Amino acid sequence: MRVSVIGTGHVGLITGVSFAERGNEVWCVDVDRRRIEALKKGTMPFHEPGLREMVRRNARAGRLRFGGSNSDAVAFGEVVFICVPTPPRADGHADMTFVENVSRDIAAALTDYRVIVDKSTVPVLTGERVKLVITRYARKNVVFDVASNPEFLREGSALEDTLNPDRIVFGVESPRAEKILRELYGNFKAPIVVTDIKSAELIKHASNSFLALKISYANALAAVCELAGADVTEVVRGMGLDKRIGSAFLDAGVGYGGSCFPKDVAAFEAISRDLGYDFRLLSEVRGINVEARERFLKKIQEELWIVKGKTLAALGLSFKPNTDDCRESVAIDIVKRLTEMGARVRAYDPEALGTARELLGKSVTYCRSAYEAARGADAALVLTEWKEFAELDLARLKKALGQPVVLDGRNLFDPRAMKASGFLYRSIGRP
Ligand code: UGA
Repeated sequence: MRVSVIGTGHVGLITGVSFAERGNEVWCVDVDRRRIEALKKGTMPFHEPGLREMVRRNARAGRLRFGGSNSDAVAFGEVVFICVPTPPRADGHADMTFVENVSRDIAAALTDYRVIVDKSTVPVLTGERVKLVITRYARKNVVFDVASNPEFLREGSALEDTLNPDRIVFGVESPRAEKILRELYGNFKAPIVVTDIKSAELIKHASNSFLALKISYANALAAVCELAGADVTEVVRGMGLDKRIGSAFLDAGVGYGGSCFPKDVAAFEAISRDLGYDFRLLSEVRGINVEARERFLKKIQEELWIVKGKTLAALGLSFKPNTDDCRESVAIDIVKRLTEMGARVRAYDPEALGTARELLGKSVTYCRSAYEAARGADAALVLTEWKEFAELDLARLKKALGQPVVLDGRNLFDPRAMKASGFLYRSIGRP
């Protein structure tokens, strides 16, 4: 099929290359000309395992192209995906400006039937709005359908998640749109949930908020475990084996970050309030998430006594492993707070030094390895659970550190092994 994708961020680019990989002809457009020029040359705008190879392969095969305008996208694709950002506003609502602008461009370019699919994470009732905008600004009598097809990919495993999803959800309001989307997803092996547009929109917000809720639950449990002298990893292991609960997203740590959970929980709460329901549970989820990083900062202060003038090795800056994305990264926030308290931070991340530098500037020293970051430090802080850190040579780490202190915000190491190696080791919710 011919597919157009408007927006080449994490959702758009992965969507585009995945449909190309499945044998469709895909055209991706973006207002960011530099990004498009780079993509044409095979340079990716962000780090995602396997992405560059897949983009280059599909571009070479002529199934994937970049460039042009939104109207080119509408002319080309039978299905047009809207994958533009919906950033958070100060009041928690998602800013829908880009979605409206794109909808107007689509309206202006519509001549033949198209299925306009929203893939960006949007509040419920967005589909109605998009339809209204397109109806208002399009030529009279032009036929189109609006649909919702939320994306559930995780950064760091985006291609795998998109090509082999747990489920595919689309919200449609005509058999014609349903038939086209079923055909498009014909060679994906996953259960398909077809529903109305509003329910599809809600599935996305409800899923992300529920996952955030699981993380906050684990972090609240960690607080209780610390008070009781129990081990949160054992508690969630025991819980997670119950199939009704499941073990995923129950890892306690410094709290969730990234461009999705913080924004989506707040946006879901905001839209619920607009609709007349006070989703109090979600405000607790957000509160516990902030508390998690505060408790870790408190641990650092307890261990160092005076933070000012101390040297700290920050291991990990991205919001999670296998990505260079530092948006809403708890690691970045913790490093910022520590430098504001007067600490000297030596930071290392396997992929995110470039993106971190844009946020932290010259306030920290950027290092080329974990050992270099640890050199002479009063403590090492594990802020992102990169595999590379789990595989560190502990004897070498200890030798590099000024003091053998490791504060692990991600429960990456085994406390017994760390203590046996002579570290003063503290982690989250574990004795
Ligand atoms: C999340 C969802 O997992 C995806 O399904 C969704 O498509 C995406 O948001 C989106 O809306 O676009 P993502 O933000 O890429 O994906 O990353 P996650 O793997 O979900 O991690 C989010 C945060 O939660 C990270 O900071 C991670 O460290 C933290 N986390 C995750 C925990 O603290 N504990 C856990 O047990 C799991």
